[in-house]
Amino acid sequence: MLIALCSAKGAPGVTTSGLALALSWPRPTVLAELDPAGGDVLAGYGRGELSAGGLADLELAARRGGLARHLDGQLLRLDPEGRARLLPGLADPAGARHVDWDRLAAVLATLEDGAVDVIGDCGRLRAEHFPAAVVRRAAAVVLTTGSTLRAVRAATRAVAELRGEGHAGMVAALVVGPGEPYGEREIGEALGVPVIGSLPRDAKAASVLSDGAPAGRLFAQSALLRAARTVATRLVEFAAAHETRLPPPPAPVPSAAATIGGGRVR
Ligand SMILES: Nc1ncnc2c1ncn2[C@@H]1O[C@H](COP(=O)(O)OP(=O)(O)OP(=O)(O)O)[C@@H](O)[C@H]1O
Ligand SMILES: [Mg+2]
Repeated sequence: MLIALCSAKGAPGVTTSGLALALSWPRPTVLAELDPAGGDVLAGYGRGELSAGGLADLELAARRGGLARHLDGQLLRLDPEGRARLLPGLADPAGARHVDWDRLAAVLATLEDGAVDVIGDCGRLRAEHFPAAVVRRAAAVVLTTGSTLRAVRAATRAVAELRGEGHAGMVAALVVGPGEPYGEREIGEALGVPVIGSLPRDAKAASVLSDGAPAGRLFAQSALLRAARTVATRLVEFAAAHETRLPPPPAPVPSAAATIGGGRVR
């Protein structure tokens, strides 16, 4: 199952939420950094400890044929068991114009025959070289938004655009920092799409995810990670309801991948 996360404008926390969701996902998952503005996770959660080819190397491989074959070799473990893995994004955003999003989306949508879910961090909707093909192929498109009037207005325009492109049924919203001042119900009414849930403002846990701050013993029990588990479960249900076929049972995860982030969750 392919799930596209995106934002209308600003930086509401797509990447941080994507990482929190990947670490909390109830099935094997890959967080794919598809933001044409470049990847953040290696430098943030990964603390710059590891460099990896990721999307850029994958494109080189794709031009030689065999994108699907090379994908596995580009994935890094986000936890010791490798239940959550990362496809690192572009180190240089100039590479975005060379990415064949169509071909990549087709591979991601059927990764490991559907045994692995892919959460695609697609960045901002109207950005140049936005991976529209990923949104087209996704079982669910999750618009990440803040709860201020400014954020909700921008999200409302983005939903209208997504509707115009024929994505109405599978669009949902994820609220980061509800109650500033709007809550899930009001945001759902304004946007006219289901709100899959909220992630609370939790600066401490967010800084672990976005900037590699030390996790501490209680990170897995932080308000952000606890809420992410609830949102992840709901999102799997929402996306599965929009997916035409049932996903097969999880396959064993290959053991070759490196781990980043020190396995801070599991
Ligand atoms: N739930 C949260 N609580 C507190 N701070 C958060 C939360 N989510 C994200 N942040 C913070 O907001 C900032 C932006 O987050 P992030 O990089 O995830 O946004 P983004 O939408 O991916 O932005 P961009 O479009 O630039 O990629 C970071 O400093 C991050 O720590
Ligand atoms: Mg981001």
